[in-house]
Amino acid sequence: MTAICVAFLVFDAVLSVKAPLMQSPSSSVVTSLTPRRSFLQAGTAAAAFFTVPGLFAEQLLTPAMTEGPFYPDKLPLDTDNDLLILNDGITPAVGEITHLTGKVVSSTGEPIRNAFVEIWQVDHTGSYLHKDGRNPKGNDANFQGYGRFLTDSTGEYYFRTIKPVRYEISSGGSYRAPHIHVAVSQNGHRLLTTQLLINGDPDNDQDGVLKSVRDPKLRETILVDFKSLPASKIGELSARFEIVLGSTAVEGDDGKIRGGIARPQQRRGR
Ligand SMILES: [Fe+2]
Repeated sequence: MTAICVAFLVFDAVLSVKAPLMQSPSSSVVTSLTPRRSFLQAGTAAAAFFTVPGLFAEQLLTPAMTEGPFYPDKLPLDTDNDLLILNDGITPAVGEITHLTGKVVSSTGEPIRNAFVEIWQVDHTGSYLHKDGRNPKGNDANFQGYGRFLTDSTGEYYFRTIKPVRYEISSGGSYRAPHIHVAVSQNGHRLLTTQLLINGDPDNDQDGVLKSVRDPKLRETILVDFKSLPASKIGELSARFEIVLGSTAVEGDDGKIRGGIARPQQRRGR
């Protein structure tokens, strides 16, 4: 209970900055690393820019996938949606800058508001924010490694991060294909735990976690195109990952959803 309350305090602080910006998108797209406040404005524009109408003619539920063992064992002090800049740092993380957007919707295509979208991934060295998931040769101290976003009435979310890279598992010469972990919570309940992978990545064919999604059509829903942003002068990418939930939390009579982010599965004994 205490943890949930703390989570809400954190989100309140974040939303006090982001909520007004979601209502007044500008028309520009990020083309360079910008100061933090400017970034948030540009990010909103990017989220609007990549909206694809009519995408949900066929509502396949996003398949659940393993949380894996590397949900951060200690969350960073900075948990916003910009994983490239930590706190008020001026040195960005190393990697291919990617604007990751998407929409959280129900099985009937209705946008889901007040959904907490969390992502976590390795830095360019293959290191997680987890003591057991770090590259022994070093990691990128400037990479946030984890971020969260609360959807508004449009269901849209937005992160600025890096294109994921492969990482070695159990130092045995085998690799996980590049991926980003994604979790969606409402009412303090984890509604979906999944991963997105890079469409066309050569490691995909050997990736056991991806293969665990047996249905080819469902597998397609988690394979995401990372496309060059034509307007970017520094080689930024865009990626869009739509999230279709099979179940959603129920709002109270006052229209509010109680609770915050669910605890990760590994800390619930699963
Ligand atoms: Fe992973």
